[in-house]
Amino acid sequence: MRFLITAGGTREYIDPVRFISNASTGKMGYALARAALQAGHEVTLITAPTALKPPAGAKLVRVESAAQMFAAVKEYLARCDCLIMAAAVADYTPAHPARTKLKKQAARLTLELKPTVDILKWAGRQRRVGCAHHSPALMVGFALEDRDLRANAERKLREKHLDMIIANAPGAIGADTSTLHIKTADRDWVQINSAYKTTSAARIIRMVTALRA
Ligand code: CTP
Repeated sequence: MRFLITAGGTREYIDPVRFISNASTGKMGYALARAALQAGHEVTLITAPTALKPPAGAKLVRVESAAQMFAAVKEYLARCDCLIMAAAVADYTPAHPARTKLKKQAARLTLELKPTVDILKWAGRQRRVGCAHHSPALMVGFALEDRDLRANAERKLREKHLDMIIANAPGAIGADTSTLHIKTADRDWVQINSAYKTTSAARIIRMVTALRA
């Protein structure tokens, strides 16, 4: 299969040297890319900046912002069988980024943010309206939830028209191990308890390939 996997936390620039981001390290997305490669699949990895070594054998596409990640997903989506959005895409970006470095002032500073495009939702909509050009066979999303984890994740599965949602709690960010709750459209929840991301990544890839069979 041809996998398109996104990883890392996007950077939303305030000025040329400052940005808003999140605590994602990219570990899960990179582990998924490695697991897919090890299982003999083709992988394009769209990655926001991380400190991780790129998986050997993957086509690497480096991006920074949510807008750049959206453009890259649009470019590669038609050539994949499965999109896995493991990236922590910023939901908001500065409405008026400064072209030159902001100078410090005595007064308070208020930043205006505007929503970014929900890439996964966009991809799901493409599939729903039957746009074959932008429609991978399978779409997998992640959900980071600190409350009502399964209920919220299941809503995202439905609303974003996904085949699989993988929910975890904020403690998973940056950690080597995490507890995952996985739901596919027509099966009950599967829970993977505090497993190494490398181990759960291999299991996720097996579950995804089984969906296609
Ligand atoms: N996602 C995306 N584009 C965005 C934001 C998120 O494609 N602009 C994807 C993420 O990669 C993840 C999934 O959507 O696979 C869920 O992201 P999450 O932030 O947990 O959910 P949201 O839908 O943004 O909802 P909320 O933040 O309100 O919980």
